[in-house]
Amino acid sequence: MGGVALFIVLATIVASSHAEGIPQQIHHLRLYTGAAGSKIEGLSCLSWRFAVETDNFRDWSVVPEKCEHYVGYYMMGEQYRKDCDAVAFVAMAYAETVALAGDGRDIWVFDIDETTLSNLPYFARPDVAFGTKPFNNTAFNAWVAEGKAPAIPGSLMLYKKLVSLGFKIVFLTGTRETYRQVRISNLKKAGYHTWKKLILKPDNDSSTAVVYKSSRRAELEAAGYRIIGNMGDQWSDLLGTNVGNRTFKVPDPMYYIA
Ligand SMILES: *[C@@H]1O[C@H](CO)[C@@H](O)[C@H](O)[C@H]1NC(C)=O
Ligand SMILES: *[C@@H]1O[C@H](CO)[C@@H](O)[C@H](O)[C@H]1NC(C)=O
Ligand SMILES: *[C@@H]1O[C@H](CO)[C@@H](O)[C@H](O)[C@H]1NC(C)=O
Ligand SMILES: [Mg+2]
Repeated sequence: MGGVALFIVLATIVASSHAEGIPQQIHHLRLYTGAAGSKIEGLSCLSWRFAVETDNFRDWSVVPEKCEHYVGYYMMGEQYRKDCDAVAFVAMAYAETVALAGDGRDIWVFDIDETTLSNLPYFARPDVAFGTKPFNNTAFNAWVAEGKAPAIPGSLMLYKKLVSLGFKIVFLTGTRETYRQVRISNLKKAGYHTWKKLILKPDNDSSTAVVYKSSRRAELEAAGYRIIGNMGDQWSDLLGTNVGNRTFKVPDPMYYIA
């Protein structure tokens, strides 16, 4: 059955190649699998998520409503966890190849939200619906203030490995200074017990994440730190200046930060 269908598609490609010189029918090979097939303006939710992860699709404000179930199943199911584990394994393999100077200045920069701590209990709420509702700063901050975000298992595994290898950890987050104490207790509760620096955003700083994070990384390097690795869920964690020797992107189809 599959073979026959593929043959027909290939035959169509060959025929159309003959006619116009370029295969026009390759989209017939498109897969439809479960909820990933829900459409948003002709785009499957899987294609939408892929475009988001590759930073081809930018400056979006909400997850398309039609993709609520797709994103929800992805985040709550095993695929999200597996994808995070895969990033952690690649990062650990890289970290093991690095010869540390031993002067305490080889650092690994971690973002916090959706990188080391997960806000999934918040995003799974009906009033948030995996990012299909407009971002509510008041409600999100109230959740942050609870200090109950769990660790992302792959990232915690990587963190422990890095600490055992002798890396110094720097958390660099867009969370406001106001929440310093609750973030400290949340990180510790989740299993992140030690770090060199915890950098939060001043309450009066209105710069974008990419500008704010670049400037803090520049300050770290000016102080003699070497950013060996840098991990985040947003491209704004990984683009800009002083990004480090290697960057690692963990998935996040729920929100976009410039
Ligand atoms: C945002 O969240 C707050 C606190 O939960 C709530 O009172 C408010 O109505 C929400 N705003 C919108 C626009 O939903
Ligand atoms: C924010 O506040 C600090 C401390 O009061 C001050 O030094 C800094 O210039 C302020 N930054 C902005 C952008 O207003
Ligand atoms: C990191 O990059 C700098 C600058 O390119 C280079 O000198 C250094 O050897 C690199 N370190 C590692 C561990 O790759
Ligand atoms: Mg983040």
